[in-house]
Amino acid sequence: MKLILLGAPGSGKGTVAEKLVRDFKLQHISMGELLRQEIKCQSALGRQIKETIEKGNLVPDHLAIEIVRVVIKDKNNYILDGFPRTAHQAKDILDLKINKVLYLEISAEEAVNRISGRRVCEKGTHTYHIKYISSKKKGICDIDGTKLIQRKDDQEAAVRERFKVYAEKTKPLVDFYKKEGLLARINAAKSPEEVYQEIKKALDLSKYS
Ligand code: AP5
Ligand code: MG
Repeated sequence: MKLILLGAPGSGKGTVAEKLVRDFKLQHISMGELLRQEIKCQSALGRQIKETIEKGNLVPDHLAIEIVRVVIKDKNNYILDGFPRTAHQAKDILDLKINKVLYLEISAEEAVNRISGRRVCEKGTHTYHIKYISSKKKGICDIDGTKLIQRKDDQEAAVRERFKVYAEKTKPLVDFYKKEGLLARINAAKSPEEVYQEIKKALDLSKYS
């Protein structure tokens, strides 16, 4: 199964992906996470993209496409989280034969509320929220035991820019995938468990288990 998670910053893409990975052994391919790993490596490429991400802008299409192509190679079971984000990226991957695009619908107000309380583990893999999704031990990741921190691009100016870029470049993909017959609208404003149940229904997962 090949899935795309589409939605505004803070809509819950990473949170949903963690559950799908746990239950259905899909590979989670988060473009944001791949880029943040590259920054951590302090490679030449990482230094180039650091500034772009921390300002809330998109990295160039050719770079995002190249990274995704390398990671997916000939795999058949994965979730693309945060890719594609532009019409160019979406057209480029039409050959992948995606099964479903899950569009996580949420108001900007609620998404900003979620982002402001988000904490991630130092590895950048597991996500929590200070009010809604807490770790068992305060400030420590349940899974890998690392400290919980805030993402650099979760500061106010970067968040504002990310929403602007989302509205201009990514939101139009909702219509694109509707026309392709792949779109499933998910009410992402509900609790994590309710959102996940709606997704399982939309995917009719009995077909794949
Ligand atoms: P990326 O890391 O993908 O950031 P994003 O799209 O802004 O999305 P977020 O990760 O902020 O939110 P999310 O939807 O994953 O929500 P989460 O599950 O964490 O990308 C970062 C940057 O990389 C981009 O800005 C860009 O610069 C670059 N980039 C990435 N892809 C690119 C591409 N294709 N092309 C070019 N550049 C690209 O949830 C948010 C919070 O809410 C958490 O605290 C969580 O615990 C909580 N939460 C989740 N669900 C619920 C719920 N149901 N109820 C209550 N709380 C919840
Ligand atoms: Mg995410």
